[in-house]
Amino acid sequence: MKKVVEVKNLTKEYKELKAIDDLSFDVLEGEIFGLLGPNGSGKSTTINCILQLINFKKGSIKIFGKEMKPNSYDIKSKIGVVFQDVAVFNELTVYENIDYFCGLYINDKEKRKKYVDDAINLVGLNDFIKFRPKKLSGGLLRRLNIACGIAHKPKLIILDEPTVAVDPQSRNNILDGIKKLRDDGATIIYTTHYMEEVEILCDRIMILDKGKILASGTSDELKKLANIEEKITVELDNLEEEKINKIRTLKNVEDVSYDGSNLIVTYKKGNNNISKFMDYLKGEKITYNKIFSERPTLNDVFLELTGKELRD
Ligand SMILES: Nc1ncnc2c1ncn2[C@@H]1O[C@H](COP(=O)(O)OP(=O)(O)OP(=O)(O)O)[C@@H](O)[C@H]1O
Ligand SMILES: [Mg+2]
Repeated sequence: MKKVVEVKNLTKEYKELKAIDDLSFDVLEGEIFGLLGPNGSGKSTTINCILQLINFKKGSIKIFGKEMKPNSYDIKSKIGVVFQDVAVFNELTVYENIDYFCGLYINDKEKRKKYVDDAINLVGLNDFIKFRPKKLSGGLLRRLNIACGIAHKPKLIILDEPTVAVDPQSRNNILDGIKKLRDDGATIIYTTHYMEEVEILCDRIMILDKGKILASGTSDELKKLANIEEKITVELDNLEEEKINKIRTLKNVEDVSYDGSNLIVTYKKGNNNISKFMDYLKGEKITYNKIFSERPTLNDVFLELTGKELRD
């Protein structure tokens, strides 16, 4: 598969701080590439370097097979960027904003009208085209920000945390829109610190921490990195400490926690864990209200890899 973005040995320092530390990765044509990491891990800095908006100490960036330089306007015209901070004109209406940004690249009036309409449809702003940004809710404003960035139908789209502080309806609309852009042929880099988003959206994921790659791969590949295979939750009251300790010694059990009403038992690889555990509970005469089993989430993987919550 063709490489749309090639980043090699990228290093960016702010005085003593290594914001990006010898980072190398590729983004392949037609994929949604998730750049995941906690606050300050270097997501926005990586994007700014890829776009050559800031200078960096070391490394090379290729886009569409060509070296990216600060004045590579031919390459830049094929990229759509949705920055983390909303950047639209307050004096212009929704329609005029999208038309303005699209007009930076598309001169032909008729073509532009079609492109602007497509963008409005994609983000579902049809009922708001005459509104000015100040009148829009946070979610609608984010959707306008996205429409402005993608209206010229760029081949590469970079979105920096486009769903921060939006309501669930706007979030779903945005995620559906991004999938549609991919299905229409765009390559997408999507940064976020929401695990569940990359899990449902991204073809491949790279987890960044302190400017370094912590792990990368498909969601399934990342889950295999974790030692835990299965998480069993049991709803039950009044479980004594000694019984909990005994559970800790069971075969394949990795970790046990109990908060007074939920017992969570994580298992390493192994088969039929839940049925064996139910048999065990029966043998011990431990009664419960509910029991269910889950596969580990990306959040569990991240916790195991780093020992901390991703969302901070
Ligand atoms: N202009 C700057 N001057 C000094 N330090 C900076 C500057 N921009 C970013 N940094 C630092 O570089 C590191 C990476 O920041 P960056 O904004 O890339 O993180 P991020 O992953 O995008 O975080 P967030 O999720 O908060 O947007 C942070 O420690 C940040 O404080
Ligand atoms: Mg950022």
